[in-house]
Amino acid sequence: MNGREPGRLVRDEQLRHSAILGLGHYRASRVVPNAEIVEAIDSSDEWIQQRSGIIERRWATPSETVQMMSVAAARDALDDAGIEARQVDAVIVATISHLMQTPAVATAVAHELGTDRAAAFDISAACAGFCHGIALASDLVRAGSSTHVLVIGVERLSDITDPTDRGTAFIFADGAGAALVGPADEPGIGPVVWGSDGEAQDYIRQREDWRDVVAAGSTRIPHLTMQGNPVFRWAAFTMAKVAAETLERTGIKAEDLDLFVPHQANMRITDAMARAMNLPEHVRIARDIAHQGNASAASIPLALRQMVKDGEAHSGDLALLIAFGAGLAYAAQVVRVP
Ligand code: COA
Repeated sequence: MNGREPGRLVRDEQLRHSAILGLGHYRASRVVPNAEIVEAIDSSDEWIQQRSGIIERRWATPSETVQMMSVAAARDALDDAGIEARQVDAVIVATISHLMQTPAVATAVAHELGTDRAAAFDISAACAGFCHGIALASDLVRAGSSTHVLVIGVERLSDITDPTDRGTAFIFADGAGAALVGPADEPGIGPVVWGSDGEAQDYIRQREDWRDVVAAGSTRIPHLTMQGNPVFRWAAFTMAKVAAETLERTGIKAEDLDLFVPHQANMRITDAMARAMNLPEHVRIARDIAHQGNASAASIPLALRQMVKDGEAHSGDLALLIAFGAGLAYAAQVVRVP
């Protein structure tokens, strides 16, 4: 006998607080203005700006792989937090555009960063992936399963976007964002409100599965398709309700917020949500989409990190994060800016 009660599993009974300790990002380097893509989709700079708020987007060069961008964003977050890579004991990568199905890119990222054999796995929750990752990381830290968790949202959507598709070619983009989540004296990550609406799974999806591609003798990577109008209406309506529920569960009101950092899907959706929530004037709203495009799982950390760099967000600010995408999957939480 080792002094333990037989048959009883050993657990830390005490939950601790969790917080984001550092933020990082990496923008894909190729700046692609609307003028470069309009011909293939019979569109115009004016139409794209008016319907989406996008002026230009970032696309990756061949050397800017999912792994490369993840590592760069993660290093930025580690520097920001003042934490060494070997102190990281879990790495979660949220992505839908790492085109190698196994092993998880998180394992390669953890290795390249120099963690001490951290737990590492990928999650697939599309544009809501980063907020899912923050929720998981927070619970891992609170329960004592991990101490320092890197959450990375990363996409190379240019690989899976059809440049001739009028509904998607102007929206999607590439980049990475990261957050280092760890223990804290005060709560820094509020309760998550998350869910999915599988009835709407056809609204945004990969056009065909890999077996169909092979059976058809094609050599093309399956592209994303989107029913833009239903997504727009679903997001504007459902996300305002999710935002209200998140504030209620966190025990704060809209006037207590300093920042609103929604998934950068479309500037008009952001505006519609802000109107529906009756956000007070002082709440600063992320509008990173104008020069980045929609980088799916990377969009929220890209936007938040930029707001800190530009002096629009300050340490201690309360930010509502809310994200939605293919599935349709969604997640939201209030966090304190590190
Ligand atoms: N350029 C120019 N005209 C276009 C166009 C394009 N790229 N795409 C569609 N149009 C035209 C249509 O042919 C249609 O013309 P018509 O009125 O003469 O028939 C008109 O614009 C309206 O088309 P519609 O598809 O209803 O556009 P929309 O107002 O819904 O805007 C989106 C399209 C994609 C900008 C919009 O639906 C959207 O942003 N949806 C949300 C997408 C999103 O956020 N996705 C990310 C989720 S992660």
